[in-house]
Amino acid sequence: MNQKDGPPLLAVKHLGVAFQTDQGQVLAVDDVSFELESGQVLGIAGESGCGKSVTALSLMRLLPQPVSKITEGEILFKGQNLLDFSIGAMRKIRGKKISMIFQEPMTALNPVHTVGRQIAESYSLHFPDMGEKEKNTASLQMLAKVGIPDARQVMKKYPHQLSGGMRQRVMIGMALACEPDILIADEPTTALDVTVQAQIMDLIFQFRDTTGMAVILITHDLGLIAENCDRVVIMYAGTVSESASVTTLFHHPFHPYTKKLLQSIPSRAQTAKEPLPTIPGNVPVLSKMPVGCRFAKRCEHALPQCENQRPRMMSVSSGHFAACHLVYDCEKKLNFDK
Ligand SMILES: Nc1ncnc2c1ncn2[C@@H]1O[C@H](COP(=O)(O)OP(=O)(O)O)[C@@H](O)[C@H]1O
Ligand SMILES: [Mg+2]
Repeated sequence: MNQKDGPPLLAVKHLGVAFQTDQGQVLAVDDVSFELESGQVLGIAGESGCGKSVTALSLMRLLPQPVSKITEGEILFKGQNLLDFSIGAMRKIRGKKISMIFQEPMTALNPVHTVGRQIAESYSLHFPDMGEKEKNTASLQMLAKVGIPDARQVMKKYPHQLSGGMRQRVMIGMALACEPDILIADEPTTALDVTVQAQIMDLIFQFRDTTGMAVILITHDLGLIAENCDRVVIMYAGTVSESASVTTLFHHPFHPYTKKLLQSIPSRAQTAKEPLPTIPGNVPVLSKMPVGCRFAKRCEHALPQCENQRPRMMSVSSGHFAACHLVYDCEKKLNFDK
């Protein structure tokens, strides 16, 4: 891929998101940074509760209100900070420039309106000059594109009258209707059975191939990332622990957490009798985050400084970063050996 001049399509810099809870303010996302180029597929992976969805919702400025707020950082879309945008300006970005699909399509679909009306509404929002007939034709074409047979009938139905797979297709169709620059797919196939899962992923990638949109694929399924992504960001307890190209991450993981995660992918040879390796210990709770590395308590390689000093993101090799004191330690050893 040719490296373009100018800013990346999306650059998230030092994002921090706080929630107001009974235990006071907690940081659900803390100093998260990553970049995305046009046409690129970026995976964001990590265990449940590590901040993947909160990060995604921040990009759309759709965080639950008034309990959460972005406390620091920048979200630069083509060089412009979305955090400075007005509500009205953000509405024009959502759906048209950056779209999002969710694990549960009912989150995005309105149960009291027919599918046809909802699709027409999304066209009206972004193309106010479009006539009724034009909207109808565009809707039918869009439903056909996402593999919905008998689109005319489906337009008359309410979301609950469709199967889970069909609802997911409608939501994808709506998300892709305006050919966004970025599609954020948050666990898009987790609720679906394996066959439908593969069909939905194919659909997303067909669009990517024809339109050149970028995709952020959020999942706890590392197999899905290995198969579909160019780059990957590994999150742990609200922070980024490692980021690299998919090839590097799967062949040369650096962070002890990533290594443990990779060991927990079921292999084909594994039988039901062999339990998956689990990582001993627990993810720290948000209200009691350690000052040092958040993985230190569970890390076999922890150094004395890991307990009390937060590791910065350091370069392991070109395009490969890890927030781990071992990077510095390895460098010291390498220099010593010279
Ligand atoms: N509405 C909320 N109120 C308080 N805490 C929340 C809320 N939504 C999410 N969180 C917390 O933010 C953290 C990250 O959540 P989330 O981004 O949904 O995780 P993931 O998508 O990686 O499973 C979790 O610890 C979760 O408990
Ligand atoms: Mg989530």
